[in-house]
Amino acid sequence: MITRVRLKNWKSHEDSELTFSSGVNGLIGIMGSGKTSVMEAISFALFGTFPSLKSRRVSMDGVIMKKPEQKDSCCVELDFENDGSSYTITRTIVRGKGKSSAEIKRDGRTLNVNARGVTSDVMRALSIDYDLFSKAIYSEQNGIEHFLRIPRGRRKDEIDRMLKVDRFESARSEAVGLRNKVRGRMEDKARVVEDIRKEGIEGKEKEGKSALEELSRELKSASSELEGIEKSMAPIEDRIAKLEGFEKEMNRISADLQSSKSVIRQLEDSISTAKERLGGKTQEALQREEESKSSELERVQSALNGVRKSIERQRNEMASLNSMIKMNSESMQSLEKTGAKCYVCDSNITEEKRKALLDSRKEEDRKLRERANKVAETMGKLTESANRMEERTVGIKLDMERLKSARESLEGLKGMQDRLDKLVKEKDDLESSLKGLKEGFSEGELKKLRKEYYDISAKRSMLNERVSGIRQRIADKEQALDDLRKRKDLARRYEEELERDERIVRDLGVFEDAMKLTQDGLREEFLRNVNDTMSGVWTEIYPYADFQDIRLAIEDDYVLQLKEGNEWVSVEGTVSGGERSMASLALRMAFSMAFIPNLKWLILDEPTHNLDHNAIKRLASVLREKMDMFAEQVFLITHEERMSEGMTGSMYRLERDKSKDEPTQVTPL
Ligand SMILES: Nc1ncnc2c1ncn2[C@@H]1O[C@H](COP(=O)(O)OP(=O)(O)O)[C@@H](O)[C@H]1O
Ligand SMILES: [Mg+2]
Repeated sequence: MITRVRLKNWKSHEDSELTFSSGVNGLIGIMGSGKTSVMEAISFALFGTFPSLKSRRVSMDGVIMKKPEQKDSCCVELDFENDGSSYTITRTIVRGKGKSSAEIKRDGRTLNVNARGVTSDVMRALSIDYDLFSKAIYSEQNGIEHFLRIPRGRRKDEIDRMLKVDRFESARSEAVGLRNKVRGRMEDKARVVEDIRKEGIEGKEKEGKSALEELSRELKSASSELEGIEKSMAPIEDRIAKLEGFEKEMNRISADLQSSKSVIRQLEDSISTAKERLGGKTQEALQREEESKSSELERVQSALNGVRKSIERQRNEMASLNSMIKMNSESMQSLEKTGAKCYVCDSNITEEKRKALLDSRKEEDRKLRERANKVAETMGKLTESANRMEERTVGIKLDMERLKSARESLEGLKGMQDRLDKLVKEKDDLESSLKGLKEGFSEGELKKLRKEYYDISAKRSMLNERVSGIRQRIADKEQALDDLRKRKDLARRYEEELERDERIVRDLGVFEDAMKLTQDGLREEFLRNVNDTMSGVWTEIYPYADFQDIRLAIEDDYVLQLKEGNEWVSVEGTVSGGERSMASLALRMAFSMAFIPNLKWLILDEPTHNLDHNAIKRLASVLREKMDMFAEQVFLITHEERMSEGMTGSMYRLERDKSKDEPTQVTPL
């Protein structure tokens, strides 16, 4: 039950608050006084829209009060009770925003604060949506005949939609689509199964298996042959390797022998030249010779020293002789001069004395010179002898040098001889091992073995090729067998799937039939319901006796009919405008009860349109006396003062001076 609505800046309402009760609530007022606006506000509060907003005949901003003064926003508050809870909804439109904001409270507690969420909460609480609300509860002013205005051929769809039967229909047609899809798939699978059957897989499999067995046998014999060959090759390989080892060793030894022989030859040459040079002298002889040379050298050197000393003595004598000769000749010179004085006592000497002295001096000079000559002669001889001795020393030293080097080369010769001996021994060893090797080696055998090995190798590679060929053929056969098996499996799987699909198709058929039956059943049920209610309503509200009954019938589509005598006539044909309105009103009431049996609300906006005086009176009295049979809460909007008789709940008069663009005045009556 809607208990209160408040409109702020909503069209012509500046701030109107109306409270409602159960029964028939009424809004009375002249055209344009703002009555329909109240119902639109109720619809907007509940679902965020109302018919002319939904069909865009008016915009969001168009709702906000623009006369006498333009407002920036408007707001609706609505209280309603349902299932023991009380709800309050507030929706606000702010100019220029193009959408509204909203809030819903249940028993004082906020449930939701966004517009869409509020609508969902309302739908959940009342179990209806806007579509059903706008068709079964609230029809617009002049909308009472809504049903009759739907062209024939589309009414069934419209009612199916209201009954939600369309959902069964869409489930059914989806099932049909699914069934066709499964059928298509089944045809494909059946074709595959058929193809596989035609192939004769069993025979092919048998053939393949026996071929595979034959190949396995072939492989076994070839493999064992190969194994035999490989076994026979091993000892030959070993023997060849051994002989080749010998051959290599022999070649190495021969090369070594060659080189040691040439070294031996060289050594022998060197030794014989050295021996030739020494003239067959022994080491001892050479040493003795050397010793005698050394003592000779000593002798010659000491003699040389003696001679050198004598020469020195002679040289000293010569020096003193020379100085004596000089002194004597000086004395002679002074004596030859007259007046000479004694060179000893410095007294004048006589002529004779001078003469005698001069003569003795002359004699002295002669003797001295004679002596000097002799000394010179001796010195010459001595010098000659010293020179000879020195030459001899050099000769002896040279001889000694030669002897020493001869002795040394004799020692080197010994070393060489030792090496030679060693080499000769090595050579002998090499020769004997070569001999040993040659005994164990046979060139002919090696050649023979190599040829044998080559022949067997060729055979082995042929066999290898054959074995791998067989293996390849086996793999191919196995692959082919595997493919056959897979195809067989596929056929088996498809056969199973086909059985299952068959069941699915059958079940879908059953489901489709059930959907169809459900739809038909629902429609029948609805029709019975509507016709029962409508019959009851009709007898109450129709004031004349010409049409005794009313019904909704199915011909090619739904048609509303009135019973005239024994005949049913279509409301759309011959009947008058007023009779049409009455029939539509009865249909509306029946619809509201058939579609939403729990929520017994009904909004009638100007239902007296086209009704005559009797009908109006009748309608008013039905509303007053019988309405509680059909609805819990009715909103009756009317300009018809006489309808006030039908009102049993709250009642308001709405007034407005339109020439002054005044806001609506609401007065409770
Ligand atoms: N935004 C608005 N601001 C002010 N007045 C408006 C606005 N929109 C519509 N109206 C006026 O409100 C009146 C419509 O009220 P309505 O509820 O349809 O009247 P009625 O009582 O006939 O049902 C009209 O006179 C219209 O000019
Ligand atoms: Mg109106």
